[in-house]
Amino acid sequence: MLLDVACGGGLFGPHLVGKGYRVIGVDLSAASLCEARHHGFHAVAQADIVALPFADESFDVVTAGQCLEHVPDPFAVVGELCRVLRPGGTLIVDTIADTRAARLVSITIAENLPVPGRPPRGTHDHRLFVNRARLIRVARAHGVELQLLGVRPHFGDGIRFLARRLEEVRMVRTKSTAVLFLGVGTKW
Ligand SMILES: C[S@@+](CC[C@H](N)C(=O)[O-])C[C@H]1O[C@@H](n2cnc3c(N)ncnc32)[C@H](O)[C@@H]1O
Repeated sequence: MLLDVACGGGLFGPHLVGKGYRVIGVDLSAASLCEARHHGFHAVAQADIVALPFADESFDVVTAGQCLEHVPDPFAVVGELCRVLRPGGTLIVDTIADTRAARLVSITIAENLPVPGRPPRGTHDHRLFVNRARLIRVARAHGVELQLLGVRPHFGDGIRFLARRLEEVRMVRTKSTAVLFLGVGTKW
C-alpha cells in the first residue's frame, strides 16, 4: 500500500499505474480528493496530515510531494509519515529548502514571471521552507535515515512549458539541495 500525503488532485496517480500499489491519498481539500479519485487513487481520506487517520506501520511507501513547505509544523508531519510507514518501507518527500537561494528562485522569480503557468503570487511563504539538517534529524529520530537529493526542472521542458508546447516538466537531479530537494529513506 502506498500513501500519498497532501495528494492534492492526485497528479502522482498516473505515474503509479501498473506499479502494483494500492494507492491511498490524504488531503484537506474534498474537491482535490475527488480529482485524485479520477487520477487513479483507489481510496482517499479527508484529514489533516498532522494527525493521519491510520494505524502505525500501515504502509509500504509514504510519499509527500510539495507539502512540507505548506504546513506550519513540517517536523510534526514528518513524525506522522514515519509513524505510518512499516519497517523496511520507503519514505519519499520533496520540498523547498529554507535558503535565500530558494526564496529567490521559488518566490521572487517563479511567482513574478510575466508568463502564463507561473505559480500564483502567495503560493509560497518562505518562513515555511524546510531546514534540511533538522529534517534529517527528525526523520532519524523516527527511524528513517533520509538521503537528500537536489532536483530542478529540466530546462528544455521548462521553456517548452512556458511556450505552452508541453504540459508537464520533468524534474532532473542537480548537485545542490539548496532550492528543491527530495528526501528518500528506508525505515529500519
Ligand atoms: C502544492 S499542493 C501539492 C499536491 C500534490 N502533493 C502534488 O505534488 O501535486 C499542497 C497540498 O497540500 C494540502 N494541504 C496543505 N496543508 C494540509 C494539511 N494540514 N493537511 C492535509 N492536506 C494539506 C493542500 O490541500 C494541497 O492539496
